[in-house]
Amino acid sequence: MIGIIGSMKIEIDGIIDRMEEKEETVISGITFAKGLVSGAETVVAICGTGKVSASVCTQTMIMKYAPDVIINTGVAGSLSENLHIGDIAISESMVQHDVDISELGYELGYLCELELVYLPVDPKAKKIMVECVEKAGVNYEIGVIASGDQFISAQAKKDAIKSNFNAIACEMEGGSIAQTCYMNQTPFCIIRAISDEANGEASIDYTIFASKAAKNAINITLEFIKKFNAENSEQE
Ligand code: ADE
Repeated sequence: MIGIIGSMKIEIDGIIDRMEEKEETVISGITFAKGLVSGAETVVAICGTGKVSASVCTQTMIMKYAPDVIINTGVAGSLSENLHIGDIAISESMVQHDVDISELGYELGYLCELELVYLPVDPKAKKIMVECVEKAGVNYEIGVIASGDQFISAQAKKDAIKSNFNAIACEMEGGSIAQTCYMNQTPFCIIRAISDEANGEASIDYTIFASKAAKNAINITLEFIKKFNAENSEQE
């Protein structure tokens, strides 16, 4: 079973539309749609905006469906000069840029209980995702993606996240999906299409481009579902 999480309807609709034999279950106000996508058993959910909603959704998905892998697809602000609107960011690892206990002597983003800052994605899922992006012929970059409960639209904040974590993109859920997966030993991977450049024009760009950008990530995620399923069935 493949788990797919997006924070908004526009990030997920293109996958739910293709689902056959769909069964919906609502838990904690979140609808989980389980069925077949390109013949692969898949569960899809819209988690809502921000890290808390994303964690509730991820933990519930893991406990109810025990997916083999969780993919978070959606949009992000670019922190990299190589990533422009419509391009794709694939995570090497995830960080939570708003976790800050530096006053107590810890590194920014340090997760005490896990004793780390960067949550690594599953190498096998990442490899398949990269193959899917290359097949789609979309410009992409692999690197750290930073999450926090803020829409980033100020150059100073953008520069700080970029230099503190060497991050290539910012968004609001992936870091907590990653942490929840890590705590449950569930493999995960994050793919985000660029909707804006997290600068002074971000709110205008986001309004214009988010839905179109989200489709780029959805198309690659659909390809991932096929490929992951094919490779997993071969091994069985
Ligand atoms: N998602 C898309 N653009 C974003 C931004 N600029 N900041 C945070 N999350 C985003």
